[in-house]
Amino acid sequence: MRRTVDGVTLGYDLEGRGEPLLFLHGFPLHRGMWRPQIAALRDRFQVLTVDLRGFGESSVSDEVTLAQLAADVVALMADLGIARAAVIGLSMGGYVAFRLLEQAPTFATRLVLADTRAEPDTDEGRARRLALAARVAQEGREAMRDFVAGLVGPTTRARRPEVVATVEALAAAADPRALVATLHALAARPDSRPLLSRITVPTLVIVGAEDTITPPETARAMADAIPHSRLVVLPEAGHLSNLETPEAFTAALRTFLETTAG
Ligand code: MLT
Repeated sequence: MRRTVDGVTLGYDLEGRGEPLLFLHGFPLHRGMWRPQIAALRDRFQVLTVDLRGFGESSVSDEVTLAQLAADVVALMADLGIARAAVIGLSMGGYVAFRLLEQAPTFATRLVLADTRAEPDTDEGRARRLALAARVAQEGREAMRDFVAGLVGPTTRARRPEVVATVEALAAAADPRALVATLHALAARPDSRPLLSRITVPTLVIVGAEDTITPPETARAMADAIPHSRLVVLPEAGHLSNLETPEAFTAALRTFLETTAG
């Protein structure tokens, strides 16, 4: 489905009935990355997946910030009449979730931060990202090949060709203009660490044991800084843990949702 709010069109899906769960995808993918979780959870929950601006069926802008991506989602939720939801963000989806917490502090009933981090880019990381943006501007999405290959862990690369194919297909849908704009937004993202101690809702931090982009040590430090949090490390999963080990990811999510239900 698509809906235009404040001049921005966003793609989204709303399935199932029950407590709303809002899923925010990683870069450079789209809402289709949540397919395994939708199938597993729509019997008990209202599952909402959104394409962040630039991705999937959403409008593309030449310039964006993570705050704008969050504001788009907040506006869509208001338009759909969804006042509160458990928010699940993977990687960039987690960065957007931090901005959403600032903009709509009572929206999240619970929080799941998967394969993400609160720190901004290091100077070196930022320079690498801006260099990648320049290459994508010149060469198109082919320049993303190594980045996309590094999203999954070694176990997936060696043993799960179907997951590699799914990730490549999800990334192949990305518009080069959105890739450039979003790489700039990621490079400019603020430090979210000051927010962590102020998160009052139950929080689950999930990370793939083989995640090299947002590694387990980073996830552990983030979980330690959030008052009501727990950490789950998923064996044999890299940065896209929900796609690489979907059963284990969904089981951890389901257990968290069942044991923290208000
Ligand atoms: C993502 O998966 O959203 C990206 O890897 C985030 C990042 O590069 O920091």
